[in-house]
Amino acid sequence: MTTIPTIDLVDALAAEYAEKSPLEIMALALSQQGDIAISFSGAEDVVLIDLAANLGKPFRVFSLDTGRLHPETYQFIDTVRQHYKIDIEICFPESEAVQQLVTQKGMFSFFNDGHQECCGVRKVAPLRKKLATLDGWITGQRKDQSPGTRNDIPVVQADVGFSGIGKQLIKYNPLANWSSSDVWNYIRLMEIPYNPLHARGFTSIGCEPCTRAVLPNQHEREGRWWWEEATHKECGLHAGNLK
Ligand code: ADX
Ligand code: SF4
Repeated sequence: MTTIPTIDLVDALAAEYAEKSPLEIMALALSQQGDIAISFSGAEDVVLIDLAANLGKPFRVFSLDTGRLHPETYQFIDTVRQHYKIDIEICFPESEAVQQLVTQKGMFSFFNDGHQECCGVRKVAPLRKKLATLDGWITGQRKDQSPGTRNDIPVVQADVGFSGIGKQLIKYNPLANWSSSDVWNYIRLMEIPYNPLHARGFTSIGCEPCTRAVLPNQHEREGRWWWEEATHKECGLHAGNLK
């Protein structure tokens, strides 16, 4: 076990691991002392779970159930649970906050006044609660997912936005340098299960009302919150990407 890197050491670690493979970055993350977990959205980030399983070390996985995921995604999360014989820690939003939002603004407020409020209640607050119990988290973010917001993500970073007072939180992005084709070559080569929505034109998968399939040559995140301006499609989980 390596000790939790202090914030000033994180940049050095990011430079050292910048060219390393996702498996090596995953090995680094899982060797960190403290509580670390993979953040699994039920999409092609299943690769993270496969990498961790291949290392043969214990690892934790959590998913944020917004209550609005596609049925296929719920089924896929369970397929993954059974395939890898792992527990997936499901995080729910606070019922009071969801009730208040949908009572006051209806079930589709995001189409009228933007997705930030609903994402705040259904995703960001539950993530914050989960991360308060962790020392590090591992995400499936990649640079090529969003040239506007993810182009500069390092393979390891201090997650200042989500660290509590006096506590540091390290964020690992083992797939940062992989392209979408690298991910899909891996999925096919290793014959790992994938969300069936991918076969129906969904390249990026979020909540059901806020995700749609994309056409050939559309960028993968164009199907997310498609009614909003294209350049800053972040929901707040990775708020540090917005400069
Ligand atoms: S989002 O911010 O736009 O929703 P995206 O779908 O690109 O994120 O996924 C990037 C990474 O964020 C995923 O690989 C995963 O680590 C994390 N993530 C996104 N949605 C969830 C979710 N519902 N539960 C857990 N992790 C998630
Ligand atoms: Fe709400 Fe849409 Fe955000 Fe899901 S993606 S939490 S449904 S606004």
